[in-house]
Amino acid sequence: MSEYDLEVQSNINIEVNLFLEAIYQKYGYDFRDYSKAHIKRRLMHRMSVSQFVSISEMQHKLINNERFFEQVLKDFSINVTEMFRDPHFYYRFREEAIPILKTYPFIKIWHAGCSTGEEVYSMAIILKEEGLYERSQIYATDFNQTVLQKAKEGIYPINKIKEYTYNYQKSGGINSFSDYYTAKYDSVIINNDLKQNVVFADHNLVSDKVFAEVHLIVCRNVLIYFNKKLQDKVLRLFKDSLIPGGYLCLGSKESIRFSDSYHQFDTIDEEERLFKRKLHFKR
Ligand SMILES: C[S@@+](CC[C@H](N)C(=O)[O-])C[C@H]1O[C@@H](n2cnc3c(N)ncnc32)[C@H](O)[C@@H]1O
Repeated sequence: MSEYDLEVQSNINIEVNLFLEAIYQKYGYDFRDYSKAHIKRRLMHRMSVSQFVSISEMQHKLINNERFFEQVLKDFSINVTEMFRDPHFYYRFREEAIPILKTYPFIKIWHAGCSTGEEVYSMAIILKEEGLYERSQIYATDFNQTVLQKAKEGIYPINKIKEYTYNYQKSGGINSFSDYYTAKYDSVIINNDLKQNVVFADHNLVSDKVFAEVHLIVCRNVLIYFNKKLQDKVLRLFKDSLIPGGYLCLGSKESIRFSDSYHQFDTIDEEERLFKRKLHFKR
């Protein structure tokens, strides 16, 4: 890179940092420890769609227009998800975690960063099939109100169903996937009984507190948007929320290896990112 290019990059970094500081000071949302690559990509996208010439120009609008901030919030929150995403993860989850969860009289589960709910209903289906749903309570959280509302409704495009049925079967599903929804026009609606034991709630992993005494945390494809410092902080939050022996499930590109909390977990399946909080931990 030439000296000129280096200076341009350094100036962009300053503008990005100031933009995130402005969000924090004005609206209280803290993106300062999100991955800079992710934030830059999303800001470049917004600049080009809304035709700004610089991040600084966009910052002026951000400070003076709350609706524009809401747009930026949506830009920062990537909501891609699917039912039984990475089916082999669910297959291994059934094999490894379900037999242990069966030993508890009551099971508390936290889905952090649940997006539009597909992952949550996938888990609810597994719990039903394993006879655990009636004694489970699922807390499904996200910091994005729009996706939480969609998650509560549990209505998904019918054209996704072929893929979801395939995922369900590969994940070890034992029924017909169509037992779990009703089709209406070009959508499907998830059965009400799968919603009964789920509470959807607003929770920001950056600033909100622990969910105490949970047996299982599923937080897949969320930490990839955070820098190492924030990942470390959130992994500590998860460790403090789990009972000893509780399970932690991360996304396929996420790891606990680098973090301070690493030694407090046993790795159950490295490939599928399935971990378990140690029963006894000595420093
Ligand atoms: C890519 S989606 C992952 C959805 C689902 N867990 C999955 O793996 O299919 C990431 C989700 O994390 C949420 N998220 C991002 N930052 C968050 C934060 N600080 N607190 C809570 N949720 C957050 C986003 O709103 C988004 O819904």
